[in-house]
Amino acid sequence: MFTLAHLSDPHLSGWPLPQPQELLSKRVLGFFSWQLRRRFIHRQSVLDRVMADLAQSQADHTVVTGDIINISLPQEFANAAAWLQRIGPPDRVTVIPGNHDRYIALPWSKHLALWDAYMTGDDQPIPASGTDRDAARFPFLRRRGPMALIGVSSAEPMPYNSAAGHVGPDQLGRLANMLGALEAEGRFRVVLIHHPPQGRATHERKALIDASAFRDVVAQKGAELVLHGHTHRAHLDHIPGPRHRVPVLGVPSASARPHGDKPAGGYHLYRVTRANQGWDLEIETRGLPRQGAGLETTGRFRLASQPV
Ligand SMILES: [Fe+2]
Ligand SMILES: [Fe+2]
Repeated sequence: MFTLAHLSDPHLSGWPLPQPQELLSKRVLGFFSWQLRRRFIHRQSVLDRVMADLAQSQADHTVVTGDIINISLPQEFANAAAWLQRIGPPDRVTVIPGNHDRYIALPWSKHLALWDAYMTGDDQPIPASGTDRDAARFPFLRRRGPMALIGVSSAEPMPYNSAAGHVGPDQLGRLANMLGALEAEGRFRVVLIHHPPQGRATHERKALIDASAFRDVVAQKGAELVLHGHTHRAHLDHIPGPRHRVPVLGVPSASARPHGDKPAGGYHLYRVTRANQGWDLEIETRGLPRQGAGLETTGRFRLASQPV
């Protein structure tokens, strides 16, 4: 059995006030959104409890599906690198970026490069510093136990007031090739993508622009599981695959207090076992109760392969 932990959207707090010149961009909107609203939702105290529970979970590997930070300030990238080390070493933790991690256009080498060791495939050398590699590095592939973890980036700098995502045809072409080859290996293929790829998962302003092209790739090549963040909710949906429907799972923000109709912080555990003709997937959702200090199991269920 292989246990994969999934957390997302910690939107780390504790970053210093930006310099005025750092706000001469879309960042100014995100900064005021943080000051007026989001800092009361994303709490270090919640994230600490989630992290403590995760440390006890005996997961073999952890994936973080983006939005680690908020407005892509240099100090936020550095804070996030230290936070990732708290989860575990890079060979046991896999990260993909979210829209808040590419809030504005910045040189990769000075910002996201700080997380490179967590976003690099097994056969992919970490580029020398100063090298800007952007979409070309995705999707990356890591093999762990029976699993193939495929990191897709839907994070692209977007205009003011847009939190949309975009994967692009080049990345989708490489994803199709990868999924085909991994099926021949008999791997449990997990695709990681920040924006939910299923239809109508979120408002158009926040949606994955090329979601239908992504779904076409999965419909042709298949995958065993798709994991996303971005919505700050637990979701279970399905998209078509070539033989079976492919489960798509979203997870609450790892740092959130309950707000509106969105739940308190939590994460998921996926336990994968080889079964006679395929795989057995057990899903355990862990979350903070309305009262009480520690996390509890909020759901546990099994998924069987379902015909299209
Ligand atoms: Fe988010
Ligand atoms: Fe997001």
